[in-house]
Amino acid sequence: MLISEEKNIINLEYNGDLSTINWERVCELFYNVNWNKRYPNEIKEAFEKSSHTIFAYDNDLIIGFGRTVDDGKYYAMLADIVIDPGYQKKGLGKRIVNKLKEAVLGYHFITLTAAPGKSDFYKNIGWKKQSTSYIWPQTPKQVRQHCEKEKHIEGHELGNFLTKKCVSREVENKT
Ligand SMILES: CC(C)(COP(=O)(O)OP(=O)(O)OC[C@H]1O[C@@H](n2cnc3c(N)ncnc32)[C@H](O)[C@@H]1OP(=O)(O)O)[C@@H](O)C(=O)NCCC(=O)NCCS
Repeated sequence: MLISEEKNIINLEYNGDLSTINWERVCELFYNVNWNKRYPNEIKEAFEKSSHTIFAYDNDLIIGFGRTVDDGKYYAMLADIVIDPGYQKKGLGKRIVNKLKEAVLGYHFITLTAAPGKSDFYKNIGWKKQSTSYIWPQTPKQVRQHCEKEKHIEGHELGNFLTKKCVSREVENKT
């Protein structure tokens, strides 16, 4: 799929050969959007286990990506939608999300978790805010960023998180 934008030729590669991906560059993009705790070997494994993947290229340079995780019939989730800051607000995020959404149309539930501050992006492109979704937060940061304020979460549950010293680095990396 080729998109001509100004002087750039943007090539979207859908379900391409993951053995050709430069995972260091993928991590660099995560870093560029302030998702710092991603590591090339771990992100490679996660993409390899994903059901659909898309990478956007400016010539040979990866400038964005996204993926889905699903069970083949009932539940599908979009994840890791990332566009390099220099290429944002040009319609690329919308194209990647739409392509991934089309790939899983027909599943009973098609969901995603918006990063803090990105809800309006998804609303703008037609997604509906789900009033019935729940999270089992893994870190105090997730409680702050993804949970409604509730007395019991601010009280003893948050206290439990803070006193647990066995949280591994991998768990802390989850956002
Ligand atoms: C969020 C993100 C993927 C959007 O990608 P993008 O290529 O810049 O977005 P698009 O250009 O496709 O925008 C599509 C529409 O959403 C709007 N939009 C884009 N970002 C927005 C935001 N943060 N808030 C509100 N609206 C936004 C655009 O203005 C555009 O609206 P229009 O069609 O009316 O012109 C990109 O900003 C990004 O990678 N951010 C950092 C990583 C991140 O948070 N990803 C989301 C993970 S859940």
